[in-house]
This record gives sequence, structure tokens and C-alpha cells, in this order.
Amino acid sequence: MRRITLIPGDGIGPEVTAAARAIVEASGATVAFEEVVAGQRAEREHGTPLPRPVFDSIEVTKIALKGPTQTPFGGDYRVTIERNDVQAGGVARSYPSISIALRRELGLFVNVRPIKNYPGIPSRYEKVDLLIFRENSEDLYVGVERMVDEGTAEAIKIISERGTERVTRFALDYMQRLGRRRLTIGHKANVMKMTDGLFLKVAQSIAKGRSDILVDQRVVDALCMDLVMRPEDYDCLLLPNLYGDIVSDLAAGLVGGLGVAPGANFGTDYAIFEAVHGSAPDIAGKDVANPTASILSAVMMLRYIGETAAADRIAQALAQVLMEKHAVTPDLGGNAGTRAMTDAIIQKLRA
Ligand code: NAI
Repeated sequence: MRRITLIPGDGIGPEVTAAARAIVEASGATVAFEEVVAGQRAEREHGTPLPRPVFDSIEVTKIALKGPTQTPFGGDYRVTIERNDVQAGGVARSYPSISIALRRELGLFVNVRPIKNYPGIPSRYEKVDLLIFRENSEDLYVGVERMVDEGTAEAIKIISERGTERVTRFALDYMQRLGRRRLTIGHKANVMKMTDGLFLKVAQSIAKGRSDILVDQRVVDALCMDLVMRPEDYDCLLLPNLYGDIVSDLAAGLVGGLGVAPGANFGTDYAIFEAVHGSAPDIAGKDVANPTASILSAVMMLRYIGETAAADRIAQALAQVLMEKHAVTPDLGGNAGTRAMTDAIIQKLRA
């Protein structure tokens, strides 16, 4: 029995991860979930949003399915990490958000986000099939900011040769396994000459040796326009952290919204699967959140651990429910709740 850490998270997180969990459990996959608490409930119960048991569990299971976690806008909110090495005299580390803390502490250097049209999901475009590789550990998201004086703030943007090289190699290998052919590097090297310039140069030089994959580049603002005009022209995208975050949400909008965009964070030792969307406080607790992104993230997880048959069964059951449109959430044009949509998928699995 493969153990999986489950982090329900904040806002709609507990609703959509409960849906994904129930569906995985009904699929026949031989996995056992181990639930740990992170986020606002952890802050209330343990005095920190990311307590030690979260790491203790992932260090054993190596894999987590995570719901979104909430981060306040502005202010001086930081997530401080208490792990064994810190208690043994190491330097305490702090990060701007729970997601960033997990990604950095566990060495999850790449975020993979497949964005494509699903039959039955209303969308302005057809034939969109994008695979986004977002560098996950560097860039402005290292979270080193300060107020220079009362009216001026500054932030540090870090791009390294090592970080760019490993995310590029990962993207190329991942593409090769899936038979994907074209990689577009998104950047702003015309303005951020050193940082994005280094990202572009290193990514291009690593990719040059790969005759199986066509590599081109696009300035990120022009890339955004292209994606909105002709998304079907693009295949795979490689982006530094901040642009990757923004372009992923834009791309989710091309295929029906954040409710249908799954994702996975990979490193050398660990993997965390989580939807692109956030905790959606505006709809939390109302039983209207679309669980599709979370379910598709679980499907990615099952494929990753070799539970291919269960993954295929879930993907098929979900596709049937989406196509029939009788039991889909309001963002997809239906009037079913999260739980009703989940039950409909489970019924298909059992049929
Ligand atoms: P959001 O993704 O939570 O919501 C944006 C809009 O999309 C809202 O109108 C929301 O109702 C809708 N939406 C999102 N997921 C949906 C779903 N599954 N079904 C139906 N509608 C859905 O982004 P927002 O509002 O900017 O962020 C809210 C909080 O989430 C913030 O505290 C942010 O830091 C956090 N966040 C956490 C992430 C993570 O833990 N991986 C990722 C992104 C944001």
C-alpha cells in the first residue's frame, strides 16, 4: 500500500481534496492517505502554518496531494520553518508563503502544469494543449524584499545557471517521455538583461544539444498576447518562476478557468501534486468549488506512482461526467455542488 500525504489546506482546499481523495479511494488504487494539517487551522492549533508533522510525513511518503493554502496580501507575513536541523542549531529559514516554503524546503525545483481543452468544458478556444514548466525555486519568489525608505520598496531577483540548467533538463526529458516536440522559452531578456538574459542563454544552450525537440523563445509579454490570440500554436513553455505563475493562470483561462488546471511540483526526492488555483475564499464552504483541477492533479500523481489503470479509470469517469453536464459545478455552467459532482464521478467508477 503506497502512503500519500494529504494536505487539505485552506478555503476550498478541504472540499476539493476531499473530492480527489474519495475518487482515488473508489478507483481501486492501492494507496493510503495520511492527513496532515497546514495553513490557517495549523496556525490556530500549532502556532505555525507549516508545523513539523507535515515534513515528518512527506519525508517518509515522498509524495503529497495538497490543497491550496492562503497567504495574506502585503504586510510582514512569513512562514518560518522549524525542522530538526534548525533545532540542532541550524539557521531558521522563513518564506513568503506556505507553498514557497514547501517547494524550497523539499527541493521541488519545477512546477509542471498541463493546460488543455477537455471535452464538455466550455471554452473560448479549441485544440489548446499546453504543457507549462515553471521554474519553482528562484526569481523574485525567493522573497527577499525590503523597504528602502517609507516610500520605496525593493526586491531581489535571483536566476542561477544551476537552477536554469536543471529545470531545462527536466523539461526536455519530460517532453521526450511524452513525445512533445516544441519548447518555447518565455523571458524578458530585452529588459532584465542579466537575470532573464542568463535564463535564456542557459536554457538555449542546454536545449541546443537535443535534436528531438525544437526550441524557440518569446518575450513574455508578446507570448501572453499570442496565447490569447492563437493558443493552439504553442506546445510546451519554459518560464522563470514569476512569469510561469502568471502565464499558468492566463492559460487556465483559455480552457475554462482555474477549476480545471492541475499541477505537480517535482524535485529529486519528493513530489507534491496540487491544482493551479488558490484557496478561493469567495466561494469557500459553499459546496460550489470545482474539484476537477484537484482530481486531475491526483490523476497525475497516480500516473507518477505507476497506478496507471486507476488513473485511466478516473480520467474516463471524470470525462463522462463533464461531457454529460448533468452534475457539474456552476463555473462549468451546471448547478451541482462539489459533493454531487464527486458522487457522480464515483458512480461512473463503480458502474
Ligand atoms: P484563487 O485561485 O483562489 O481564485 C481566483 C478566482 O478563481 C476566484 O474567483 C475563485 O472563486 C475562482 N476559483 C479558483 N478555484 C476555483 C475552483 N476550484 N472552482 C471554481 N472557482 C475557482 O486566487 P486568489 O483569489 O488570487 O487567491 C486566494 C488565496 O489563494 C490567496 O491567499 C493566495 O495566496 C492563495 N493561493 C494559493 C495557492 C497555493 O496554495 N498553491 C495558489 C494560488 C493562490
